[in-house]
Amino acid sequence: MLIKNLKLESKFNTFLLIIFVIGMFLTSSLLYQVLEQNAKAEIADRAQLIMQTMNSVRDYTTNNIQPLLNDRLETEAAFIPETVPAFSATEVFQRLRKNEAYRSFFYKEATLNPTNLRDKGDSFETTLVEKFRNEAAVKELSGFRDLPGGKVFYVARPLTVKKDSCLRCHSTPDRAPKSQIATYGSDNGFGWKLNEIIATQIISVPAAEILDNAQDALKIVMAVLLAVFGAILLAINYLLRRTVIQPIKDMVKTAEAVSLGDMDAEFQHQSQDEVGLLAAAFGRMKSSLQISMNLLKQLE
Ligand code: HEC
Repeated sequence: MLIKNLKLESKFNTFLLIIFVIGMFLTSSLLYQVLEQNAKAEIADRAQLIMQTMNSVRDYTTNNIQPLLNDRLETEAAFIPETVPAFSATEVFQRLRKNEAYRSFFYKEATLNPTNLRDKGDSFETTLVEKFRNEAAVKELSGFRDLPGGKVFYVARPLTVKKDSCLRCHSTPDRAPKSQIATYGSDNGFGWKLNEIIATQIISVPAAEILDNAQDALKIVMAVLLAVFGAILLAINYLLRRTVIQPIKDMVKTAEAVSLGDMDAEFQHQSQDEVGLLAAAFGRMKSSLQISMNLLKQLE
């Protein structure tokens, strides 16, 4: 075996290095998984919070604002968009985005056939709506998406026409308030049906920064591990050399000298550990040898 030919020091270092490399690999992959999972959970939490808030704004508009302004929709020439849940949600979100910290957050009610063409879903959002339509059991889709502004995490939910009151403005143009037709025309945002999924609410929150933080944390932990291992390796090498290798080398030298007849050479033993005991034993062996040789000489 190759390992048999190695010196003590190399044996120790080889084993330690193998253990360390395996340890580093296991630790880093495990830690990476945990950190990434935490980062994703944090991102998803943020997205969920915004989603719930937007839905609260929508509810508030439908239940509290619309009844107040309903009559004026028929009498006034200009449409009052404040009565529309989608409008209030979008407006509230625009104000949120004015804060530096939320600049790269997005909210959209991506619609297949929107009243306001700004709300038309892009190809990605359209696929999401179609998925919700085809698989009724799917209530939420989420994941990462690369956008020109960086990696984002999105949470998407189906938007269903749940109330008959929605159909006043979204079924046929003749049922809609005249002011709505005057402002938005009669081509878009009609023909929706009750319980039909017409859009997806999609929230995007920036992910790059949080994922980067996780990577930084990983790097710091691995650097600390590396430093600790380096220190352990140095300490073990120092101890090994001082307490085992050097004393044994000294003993080899002394034993060689004694075997060549130099009876003044002494086995040094400062320590009381196993190596020290060995040196002491060698010392006693040398004394017995000396006594026997002296006896032999006298006999002659
Ligand atoms: C008073 C008329 C009216 C009512 C009632 C109404 N909407 Fe709308 N809806 C509109 C108008 C007008 C817009 C475009 C608003 C804008 O410019 O942002 C709109 C926008 C939307 C959008 C965004 C996509 C698009 O078409 O631009 C969704 C989704 C939507 N409405 C769903 C609903 C649902 C669901 C209800 C019932 C809870 C509802 N609406 C009730 C008039 C109405």
